[in-house]
Amino acid sequence: MEVRPNAGGFGAELRGIDVRGLDGAGFAALRRAWIAHAVLLLRDQVLTDDDLVAFSRRFGDLDLAPVQESGRSTVVGRPEIYVVSNVIENGVAIGSLGAGEAVWHTDMSYLPAPPMASLLYALEVPAEGGDTWFCSMYAALERLAPELRRRIAGRRVKHDGTYNSGGYVRQGVTPTDDPRAAPGALHPLICRHPESGREMLYLGRRRNAWLEGLDLAESDALLDAIWAGIDAPEIGWRHHWRPGDLVLWDNRCTMHRRDAFDPARRRIMHRTQVKGVAPPAAA
Ligand code: OGA
Ligand code: MN
Repeated sequence: MEVRPNAGGFGAELRGIDVRGLDGAGFAALRRAWIAHAVLLLRDQVLTDDDLVAFSRRFGDLDLAPVQESGRSTVVGRPEIYVVSNVIENGVAIGSLGAGEAVWHTDMSYLPAPPMASLLYALEVPAEGGDTWFCSMYAALERLAPELRRRIAGRRVKHDGTYNSGGYVRQGVTPTDDPRAAPGALHPLICRHPESGREMLYLGRRRNAWLEGLDLAESDALLDAIWAGIDAPEIGWRHHWRPGDLVLWDNRCTMHRRDAFDPARRRIMHRTQVKGVAPPAAA
């Protein structure tokens, strides 16, 4: 197994691995690389849904996929798999997020205990567009101005459960744009990673976010100031997909977003998500 850190310094590609045949020592090495680099790319994987679920389970128990925005359930017989796709079959989208931009987010952070990992496998991808960007929330915290950091220390942020990253309303939710009333969970804004021990920002997503205890205008001003640092190229990595790519990210210390692509092109991705714990506050 060869670990090749990405050129920008964030994330890494693992070469020489077929995840189906990984022995215990191989998996331990992969897991160490995943904690160290937060996002791993493995190319040319040939995985059935069963293979994807079996490999994902080596990280721990899986969360069931969220209900897709169309209301359709997931892959038949595979409630762990979340389908990300713009493909329409019999008038119904087979997956979520359409073909538009998916804005920066951490998966399912509106839950009290969000997944610790997501594994996204590319089945069909367009030649152009639909790139996925990842950013380091360790680096985002390190780059925060000391004054701003002082102002947010000890605060909790409301993570919205109304809208998904594609801007679609989640099933069963009455849409609201008042973050105080929206469904979701409160998490510390500065967390300590339970495994690496490093401190990180924990933002979730911008829409309907709210800093507990502040009035909305003050909360929005602080959140906007924090979010202004997220697009910095120095803290991110951009991935252009090929079929057979498997990307696994540490969902505790990263965010991701996706570029729009031509809706006339097909893009089909299957995702699993590994159960995590409530994000612990940094001391
Ligand atoms: C996801 C996600 C974006 C993409 O699977 O959690 O945000 O590039 N996907 O498909
Ligand atoms: Mn996502």
